[in-house]
Amino acid sequence: MDPRERLIIALDVPTATAARRIVAAVGDSAYIYKVGMQLYTAEGPAVVRELVGSGRRVFLDLKYHDIPNTVGAAVREAGALGVSMLTVHASGGGRMLRAAVEAGQSAKADMLVLAVTVLTSLDDAELGKVGVRGGVLDQVLRLAALALSNGCKGVVASALEAGALREEFGPEITIVTPGVRPAGSGPHDQARVVTPAEAIAAGASHIVVGRPITEALDQAAEARAILGQISSQYPVPSTQ
Ligand code: C5P
Repeated sequence: MDPRERLIIALDVPTATAARRIVAAVGDSAYIYKVGMQLYTAEGPAVVRELVGSGRRVFLDLKYHDIPNTVGAAVREAGALGVSMLTVHASGGGRMLRAAVEAGQSAKADMLVLAVTVLTSLDDAELGKVGVRGGVLDQVLRLAALALSNGCKGVVASALEAGALREEFGPEITIVTPGVRPAGSGPHDQARVVTPAEAIAAGASHIVVGRPITEALDQAAEARAILGQISSQYPVPSTQ
């Protein structure tokens, strides 16, 4: 399989112009781009339409969390935009997750609805303060089980949790892992980082890489180096 199926570049920039510049510089070295809160809030759906229209795949990372009807309606609109992957918070509950999956299936059958389990910015102590006992890993596994049993095909998780998720839920689920840094690059504000090869070895099916590529002098070369590190880990577990 083409390692470009596994690499997602995070377009964490404030304008469509900045996003366009990165996409043009990366060229054929990648084709899945993550549009998150910043770019979407600044530029709206036009930026998604433009990416999809130019043949790229879009991972819309807006982490929906609301009542089932509202989330379902938003997912339908994302499908109409041509989004390939999107995120919802698993803690929105089973009915919300089911509504998201069903809306996704009706709007765009091959769209992947991914569940965010526990944000990597939360540790056991902070999780306790929002009323969750038992620690991060327990909660990740509990929420992943809820998401998968309600039709989600995968989750977003750190490389630290990817192994336990893979063991518990098998080879088919999609595990999207951020916090990835090519060997030799700085961590930025990520507390825990792994290399692309380590993330894939831990069980990730996809990796999200932002600043190491978007801030590189030669963005295409950086993307190609990461693809090489992904390829070094084949065969990878998921077929998604
Ligand atoms: O620049 P960097 O590679 O750190 O970007 C990582 C991307 O993944 C960002 O868009 C960030 O919001 C996202 N992300 C993350 N950790 C999570 C979930 C999403 O870093 N737990």
